[in-house]
Amino acid sequence: MKEKRESFKSTLGFILATSGAAIGLGNIQRFPFIVSEGGGALFVFIYLICVILIGIPLILVEVALGRHTKRNPVSAINMIRPKSFWRIGGALGVLTVFFILTYYSVIAGWAIGYIFNMLFNVSIDIKDFSQNAFYSIGYMSLFLIIVVAIVIRGVHKGIERWSKILMPLLFIIILILVVRSLLLPNSLEGLKYYLKPDFSEVNTKIFLLALGQAFFSLSIGGHVLITYGSYAKKTENLVRSSGYVALFDTLIALLAGLVIFPAVFSFGELPSQGIALSFVVLPKIFLQMPLGNIFGAFFFLLLAFAAITSGIALLEIPVIYFVDSKKWSRKKAVLIIGVLVFLLGIPSALSQGSNRFLSNMKIDLIGRQSLLDIMDFVWGNFTMVLAAGIIAIFVGWVWGIRNVKEELAIGSYGFKRIAAIWGVLVKYIIPVLIFVILLMLFI
Ligand code: ALA
Repeated sequence: MKEKRESFKSTLGFILATSGAAIGLGNIQRFPFIVSEGGGALFVFIYLICVILIGIPLILVEVALGRHTKRNPVSAINMIRPKSFWRIGGALGVLTVFFILTYYSVIAGWAIGYIFNMLFNVSIDIKDFSQNAFYSIGYMSLFLIIVVAIVIRGVHKGIERWSKILMPLLFIIILILVVRSLLLPNSLEGLKYYLKPDFSEVNTKIFLLALGQAFFSLSIGGHVLITYGSYAKKTENLVRSSGYVALFDTLIALLAGLVIFPAVFSFGELPSQGIALSFVVLPKIFLQMPLGNIFGAFFFLLLAFAAITSGIALLEIPVIYFVDSKKWSRKKAVLIIGVLVFLLGIPSALSQGSNRFLSNMKIDLIGRQSLLDIMDFVWGNFTMVLAAGIIAIFVGWVWGIRNVKEELAIGSYGFKRIAAIWGVLVKYIIPVLIFVILLMLFI
């Protein structure tokens, strides 16, 4: 029996909600510091190739599976191959986004806190902030309350409506910040670092970083796209809409770099400062500019908006699983999962200096320290890529490329022209690449 399922009411709603799910901390906070880890412009170039050759084909895999089955990720697989072990791939994705949300909320909470810090020029030392359990947990709860309040209202009235409000605001804010940053003295140095690749620097680490970042940023592997695809109308041009989602996601990441690098170089800072780039270096820079506290507050507002639209998706995936499969009401599912995320998020919040044990946890093999960092490796890198690999193999080899092509061709008239290349990428090339990434994560 088919349960009654909500769907996005318009193409714009589908594109904005799905872009909102993809565009998040990954684009604005994580992308710039991964660019600096990858050495600048060359990384950006390789990242773009990864998005086109791997990101977009995998988005199509997920949305096609979602729309065809109109189910959550686990039931979607079960519908195509009942009671098979492939369901593990679906369940892994659901579990992955649930755990990502636990630590994502901590960083999103910092972004909210920094809006006020910047606006009122109060202490901007990330250590004072992240080591203070009261701030960390308090702002994390505020973030989760906002996300819960939106998701509880459902697909159309909650997710679609709020994405239509927040996404345009996000675009406007980032454009204002780009102009401000480019007008700074010496901003050209930053542009050169960011946009002029030196091809003699190519190495495997850059590919690995770029692929991992593309998965995280496009939300591939958490099955967000299977779920949002399941809310798409049958007439939706999935290929065109997915193209827009990838385009917007990449554009926002590129624009975030255009805000950060010109400013960093203009003030003589080093770009390679990891997570500190957004939370330490940028606030310092903003406070040296005229009206910098206003621009700074705008930056963190941007970060908070992006985190909220992604947080909505991260919560929606486990929620719809319980609504679909366990017949819970949406309200019950949102509240129970919201509280669980909060409780499981507390250790990550405390792992940034307030609790010695959690802060000093270390896995040398993967070079991560602190519970939050380890969680990011396990769920934000490893299981996400693994789940994406399982789905790619399931779709390519079990459901069958021909069936997926038929689903994608509905409403997408131009798809036939690229269908053959897409099929080869999904069936052969991407599974091999995913296997290589997984191996290299541990080397
Ligand atoms: N795709 C989401 C982000 O970029 C998770 O933050």
